[in-house]
Amino acid sequence: MSVIVVGSLNTDVTIRAPRIPAPGETVLATGVVEEPGGKGANQAAAAATLGAQTFLVGAVGDDERGRAARAAVEDVGVRLDQLATVDAPTGAAYVTVDDRGENTIAVHPGANGLLHPDRVADALDRLAPVVSPGSVLVASLEVPVEAVAAAARIGRDHGWTVLLNPAPARPLDAELLALVDVLTPNETEARALGGPDALFGAGVGAIIATRGSDGCAMLRQDGSSERIAGLEARVVNTTGAGDVFTAALACALDDGMTLERAARFANAAGAIAVESASTRVPGLTRAEATARAEAARATR
Ligand code: RIB
Ligand code: NA
Repeated sequence: MSVIVVGSLNTDVTIRAPRIPAPGETVLATGVVEEPGGKGANQAAAAATLGAQTFLVGAVGDDERGRAARAAVEDVGVRLDQLATVDAPTGAAYVTVDDRGENTIAVHPGANGLLHPDRVADALDRLAPVVSPGSVLVASLEVPVEAVAAAARIGRDHGWTVLLNPAPARPLDAELLALVDVLTPNETEARALGGPDALFGAGVGAIIATRGSDGCAMLRQDGSSERIAGLEARVVNTTGAGDVFTAALACALDDGMTLERAARFANAAGAIAVESASTRVPGLTRAEATARAEAARATR
């Protein structure tokens, strides 16, 4: 089966600094790198690295950054048949990472903002013949919410599991939430969305709420919930860890794991991701994430 990602591709300009500057403050950076990012592309890269047949639906500009963004995901095996080139600069994210590995990010959507819902609908309909029911559609919010809604609708029609990573934080219509099988908010995003009661009331199937170093919590419509403890990790850079978490969850669900096992696997993949200096985790394997999840279970 497959993982289909609908989302952004960005160029990340990442500054390392002792601390995140306060408003009006200037701090001296200790390093700067330009690397491929974007929540959609990060998720697609992680899913492909973990071994899933992965498609990315998105948009880049006709520029150097767009070519680099494209090459970076293509190199790890992501299929880009449905990636559009549009008349706007490739998305750019300006990231600051402090000594504790925490970050702040400002994103200029650029080309991502031109991902039209009709384009997404066409792209998914073209992929449908090679993507079996039970596959997983992953979307996030650095592309227009109308495009995400179109993706969720079509994903439902084709019998795909709809996984929404509601990042960056914003409120969402009940109409879209009703199409979501699994939602993966962090704490800020959960607040913007109004909390579990509102989400389940709107029709969300299940929530995996991520809690940074405290792991995650799995909440079901029937009121049952399960906490999954955070794993020990040497935090170097938390940027993109949420994307690795979401991708690992998608791969595990695509494999037919239960939601709880999938969440444990994703929790382990997220812990591996914060130990990586870069946003993406080049050598990430299923075996490594599985071993980390099992080690955590054994010591509980
Ligand atoms: O989730 C991390 C990503 O958020 C970065 O790669 C950056 O591009 C922003 O979109
Ligand atoms: Na990282």
